[in-house]
Amino acid sequence: MDTALPPDERAELLLARMTQDEQLQLVMGYPGANTRPPSGRMPPEELRPLLPGTAGYVPGIPRLGVPALIESDAGLGIANNFHLRPGDEATALPSGLATAATWNSALAEAAGSVIGAEARDRAFNVVLGGAMNLARETRGGRTFEYAGEDPLLAGVITGSVIRGIQSQHVICTVKHYALNDQETGRTVLSANIDETDARESDLLAFEIAVEQGDPGAAMCAYDRYNGTYACENDPLLNGVLKGDWKYPGWVLSDWGAVHSTAEAANGGLDQESSEGSDREQYFGPALKQAIADGKVTPQRLHDMVHRILRSMFAHGVFDYPATRQLSALEAHRQIVYRDAAEGMVLLKNERGILPLPHMAQRIALIGAHADVGMLSGGGSSQVMPIGHTSADDFPVGAAEVASGAKVRPAGTEIYDPPSPLATILQANPAANVQYADGEDVAAATELARQSDVVIVFARQWMSEGRDVPNLRLPNDQDALIQAVAAANPRTVVVLETGGPVAMPWLDQVGAVLEAWYAGNAGATALAQVLFGNVNPSGKLPITFPASEEQLPRPSIPRGAAPGAPFDIDYFEGANVGYRWFQGRNLTPLFPFGYGLSYSSFHLDGLAVTSKGRLTASVNVTNDGPRGGMETVQFYAALPDGTGIRRLIGWSKVPLKVHERRRVTIAPDPRLLARFDEAAHGWRVAAGDYIISAGASSASLPLNATVKLTAQQLPP
Ligand code: GLC
Repeated sequence: MDTALPPDERAELLLARMTQDEQLQLVMGYPGANTRPPSGRMPPEELRPLLPGTAGYVPGIPRLGVPALIESDAGLGIANNFHLRPGDEATALPSGLATAATWNSALAEAAGSVIGAEARDRAFNVVLGGAMNLARETRGGRTFEYAGEDPLLAGVITGSVIRGIQSQHVICTVKHYALNDQETGRTVLSANIDETDARESDLLAFEIAVEQGDPGAAMCAYDRYNGTYACENDPLLNGVLKGDWKYPGWVLSDWGAVHSTAEAANGGLDQESSEGSDREQYFGPALKQAIADGKVTPQRLHDMVHRILRSMFAHGVFDYPATRQLSALEAHRQIVYRDAAEGMVLLKNERGILPLPHMAQRIALIGAHADVGMLSGGGSSQVMPIGHTSADDFPVGAAEVASGAKVRPAGTEIYDPPSPLATILQANPAANVQYADGEDVAAATELARQSDVVIVFARQWMSEGRDVPNLRLPNDQDALIQAVAAANPRTVVVLETGGPVAMPWLDQVGAVLEAWYAGNAGATALAQVLFGNVNPSGKLPITFPASEEQLPRPSIPRGAAPGAPFDIDYFEGANVGYRWFQGRNLTPLFPFGYGLSYSSFHLDGLAVTSKGRLTASVNVTNDGPRGGMETVQFYAALPDGTGIRRLIGWSKVPLKVHERRRVTIAPDPRLLARFDEAAHGWRVAAGDYIISAGASSASLPLNATVKLTAQQLPP
């Protein structure tokens, strides 16, 4: 307990006093909740009172002062794992994609601190946050939880969120390592990709997040990676994560992702998170037997426990024990308000329909329960938001069930209060605001006809465990939007989507604002953006395709039958998202990095130097009419003849009207390199590199060529 000693030393001092049984106790956890787990094995009687509301629980060792690990899901706020009970409400953050759309790492870190603080206030000391699989599958059901398609943006934003969470002395995970990039068949698929491509895409995102966030734990994923389950995948866990990246933390499994004892232990798994979720109990007595049989060495068990204890010391779990207390909810609300406001992306704004004037006018609000709140995503990240009442819950598939169709409600769409109706009235009390739910298209169209401006809310619910079938808005919302826009061209569409959607009505509407899943302060942020009190500054962290035909896989890969194993050949390699579109010369609906403002900006004076580390700088000017923020993006084309330009850095800069600033980036050399399997490291090839600056991946007006010499970097 000597806080002056380094965490590794403190872990060893403690380990020296532990019996083997005590070591074994720390490497196996129990499923949270109190319901019968998938295996049917109930947790030990004495633990059951401690489990409700947790995702997982690892008993402590009172004799040695080792606290229990009490775990909660928390990617978007403290979730309660389907045990949404009154009193469990927590601050609901905007979606991970919204936080990525802010391109603001300081804000992402502040958002993370909200999660960490509310975890501690509920006496959790491990949060299963840090979710960041690359959006390789645009229709992936967890796209909303993650940070988009680019490894640098996803790694930096998620690393910042992890830093924020751990600033509150709780441990954060980074997940799901690796290539669990779709929900369909996630526990039986094999994600097949060659090492160079994985290193330059999904693994690079994790590498950056691990370096910048220093997560105490990493969660190995459900899927097989090149044929071997991720939680027993020696090259992935021991080779890359613990070997090349020298990761000091521990690898815990996803819930139900363990399939063996010795293979998993020797493959690099350090903790079976939830024995009840796994088919069998693979650690615990089975691991003890494997050690007795010489299949697993005592040193391996020692290393497992060392990693767990080291992280507990390093991130304050011993020195700052979490204790229940009230959360600073108003301070947290301010942070998630900024997160939502900076994450909203203005995609279209013709005839200056936005911002709306502060004046008496007839405003129609139509659809997506805009009289209740802002949509949120389903699954283990689902938060029961502050101010939640059962009126905010809409069982998914209820209409089908009511119609007698053989469907199970697939979950619950939870809307985060307050409602846009309330916040828009608050922002502009002189307005006459009417709401129609959009179910009756004729009534909605009539209301639109009688209004000065119409705001149609369109929703696309996403959830863990299920991918969206296509990119179309469900429940005939396209027809609703087309009918409303035909009745009143002053129509604004507010998208509450988990990811990209198709917009067949785009030419008929005046403006489109992507609000994502905007969280507990989302409606407030929306009203401030609509009335111009906030100048939108979000930029897309994910490409919006013009059609699914443009994607590497026009339809989602699946097995021959539910539960049947299948392979996905990720032949696009590292060319995920915009890099795929550039490589195939495809024009998306809206490109990665795109986002409008109520102001216009221009860049000039790009300069690139390559003496020592490459730097790029450019002037950015706000041409008015109002103050705002611009995210200047820098891309590089390698001398590989592909013409593909990858993001190498950005700078988000606030500018008053006519203010001009010069921004500079110094990109990590790995971003200019290829991963060289033979040399087992990063290699910057000698040659001419084209460095570009612009306002999106598809708008790069300034280019400069720079000659680089060859450089070899460690893996
Ligand atoms: C889930 C998810 C993971 C979550 C865990 C605990 O299946 O894949 O993200 O942290 O189980 O709920």
